[in-house]
Amino acid sequence: MEQKRYGHFDDQHREYVITDPQTPWPWINYLGNEDFFSLISNTAGGYSFYKDAKFRRITRYRYNNVPMDNGGRYFYIKDGDTVWNPGWKPCKTPLDFYECRHGMSYTRITGKKNGVEASVLFFVPLKKWCEVQKLTLKNESSETKSLKLFSFEEWCLWNAATDMENFQRNFSTGEVEIENSTIYHKTEYRERRNHYAFYHVNAPIQGFDTDRETFVGLYNEFADPQAVMEGKPRNSHAHGWSPIASHYIEVTLKPGESKDFVFLLGYIENEQDEKFEAPQVINKKKAHALIAELDTTEKVDKAFAELCALWDNLLNIYKVKTGNDKLDRMVNIWNQYQCMVTFNFSRSASFFESGVGRGMGFRDSNQDLVGFVHQIPPRARQRIIDIASTQFPDGGCYHQYQPLTKRGNNDIGGGFNDDPCWLIFGTVAYIKETGDFSILDEMVPFDNQPGTEVTLFEHLKISMDHVIKNLGPHMLPLIGRADWNDCLNLNCFSWDPNESFQTTENVSEGTKAESLMIAGLFVVTGKDYVALCQKLGKNDEAARMQKAVDAMIEAVKKHGWDGEWYLRAYDFYGRKIGSNENDEAKIFIESQGWCTMAEIGAEDGMVAKSLDSCKKYLECEHGMVLNNPAFSKYIYEYGEISSYPEGYKENAGIFCHNNPWVIIGECIAGRGNDAWSHYAKILPSYVEEKYQTLHKVEPYVNCQMVAGKDAFRPGEGKNSWLTGTAAWMWYTVSEFILGIKPDYDGIRIDPCLPETANDYTVQRKFRDAEYEITIHPNGAQKGVKSITLDGKPVDGTVIPYSAGKHTVEVTM
Ligand code: BGC
Repeated sequence: MEQKRYGHFDDQHREYVITDPQTPWPWINYLGNEDFFSLISNTAGGYSFYKDAKFRRITRYRYNNVPMDNGGRYFYIKDGDTVWNPGWKPCKTPLDFYECRHGMSYTRITGKKNGVEASVLFFVPLKKWCEVQKLTLKNESSETKSLKLFSFEEWCLWNAATDMENFQRNFSTGEVEIENSTIYHKTEYRERRNHYAFYHVNAPIQGFDTDRETFVGLYNEFADPQAVMEGKPRNSHAHGWSPIASHYIEVTLKPGESKDFVFLLGYIENEQDEKFEAPQVINKKKAHALIAELDTTEKVDKAFAELCALWDNLLNIYKVKTGNDKLDRMVNIWNQYQCMVTFNFSRSASFFESGVGRGMGFRDSNQDLVGFVHQIPPRARQRIIDIASTQFPDGGCYHQYQPLTKRGNNDIGGGFNDDPCWLIFGTVAYIKETGDFSILDEMVPFDNQPGTEVTLFEHLKISMDHVIKNLGPHMLPLIGRADWNDCLNLNCFSWDPNESFQTTENVSEGTKAESLMIAGLFVVTGKDYVALCQKLGKNDEAARMQKAVDAMIEAVKKHGWDGEWYLRAYDFYGRKIGSNENDEAKIFIESQGWCTMAEIGAEDGMVAKSLDSCKKYLECEHGMVLNNPAFSKYIYEYGEISSYPEGYKENAGIFCHNNPWVIIGECIAGRGNDAWSHYAKILPSYVEEKYQTLHKVEPYVNCQMVAGKDAFRPGEGKNSWLTGTAAWMWYTVSEFILGIKPDYDGIRIDPCLPETANDYTVQRKFRDAEYEITIHPNGAQKGVKSITLDGKPVDGTVIPYSAGKHTVEVTM
């Protein structure tokens, strides 16, 4: 069936262009790169926060609202009796033209109605704590237009969680100040807070509102605020209830005339002893200074050009030209962009993550690292140190930490036994990219406790040891609370719907629950650790760990093979999970991915059989499902996984994050056709072409989960944007399919391609070098025959690193 389209890619501008505001789900973008962040939908819905989406929420947003995505930064234009918004919502007045262009850290929304064009450029300037909204109004008609313009933002009372619940307090605390064209939000500033926010416009205003009910009217909605409908601001001053900020401006435009207005949503922090300029009057010095930096169109355009230049640089580090637009646009633009957004936000704030729940995940953040380490190595370095600082002395780790405090999160605690391995995964990726071994000598504390510091290398060592010290009866890793699959809770045993599977007390005494996923992960990261030790001349340590890796391989071969695929786990009682002997969920993807990446039993045909089984049992039109067949009932020995209806999330959903593990397994095995066909199924640009309506969520980024073949509506996407899928897709395509792998001494070239692949070129900046690498596949799926570097033959497959510009030719 031909599916309706809502937009298209514009590769030249690195934008996705939405041409119908009624997308099947809000299609969002992210603004901000360091401290000040915003989420913005294609109708300008969303919110802003400073650093932490829970504790410093600047504007209010209501999740799961009716209608969806209500609340945002809105401009109401009253032209005679017609009131409309450039982004269509909230008034939903039919527009003569609508377009939303989501670009790299900016969004431009344009609407036209009755001869007036309103175009708003939204972005967060580099190093500044504010969101710019540059509104351009243009009269395209032949008559003079007298317009009434109302802006709108609703303040959040800072803590996004209590803002949604503590109304007996909240309705009395709200406070604002108004000074010329700036509305200041200062709730709780009188007591412990030293921060406030403001909403400013660089033009005189003819009125304002700061009290929500006065502006909207108690029985009206965002779609028809009383003040706007009557064309009369109330000049209200909020005391308690719900403070907002709305400017009122009368605009006259001659035919052909256009005017710019710069609106600024800003955030300020003051020193404790400089909080006030007069009793109860906030010190606005810093706000004035920030406003002065952005009070003209020229200044704003310059700040925007700086932002665009940043993205030019970031996206210049790895560029491919294959001639396949669908691949090139994902590799060169959207996949890298999604990795950066995921780095910035971890899993905290999207249209599926409310920003109040999770902090940064230990495993998540380590995996995200491979997605952006080539772009911002210094920040990757800091991230590794921050993550390692939440480790415990025994090698276990806090599962999550809060970005604002960087402290481990006590609610969830530790005990997820895959977590330690990921620290090796992230650190090795960082060193291979940068050559910076000095990170291993950094002194890093345990649980952030001063005085407990040991070197980062020591942290890696105890990470490996944590696995070795926690083996079960088959000498396979004990799973603990869960491994990568948070929902495989084998020691949880919960019958109480009021308790969380993630945090409830586990029965660990006497458990036999072991994980084949951790076994494979241990072998992969163990090999990396051994190579690192050898590189450092720590030969005894390398030998010690090699022994442990070998033992693990033997344990998997002996106790982890089911005949056609790798088992998934043993349960608390030592019974097989993911076996042909089980009634349901006979095969799982995670252990196939990790054990094939680890090449366990390749010589006995296990790898090939496992990969074939993935195709046979897990693959469907939209990707590979997590397990098959889906669980049809709740099994209390297994925990959350069986709590989901068939085909969703961890119960046989296509959990996109783990598809790349099998794809990499395919690449290592040299099966390029299969690797590519799995990859293309979950590549957003291919999905975009076919399934915009069915897929629902943004067609320019991966989502965490696509409903699997057992679901009611297979192919429907959910949980878009913030997912480890981004980094894994990047790692897969950049290093394993296109085959450009950073290594300690240079770049290893080892592509794995479909037979149909044409010649392609990768431009890769690497440390102080720049390589232009042309690959001639000649119909081969794998196997580099010869390489020349600047015209001279190279031995082996690693191009030795040396600064400067180089040309590389690769024949397969
Ligand atoms: C979590 C990951 C986890 C995955 C699978 C995601 O929501 O962020 O840490 O590995 O689910 O359960």
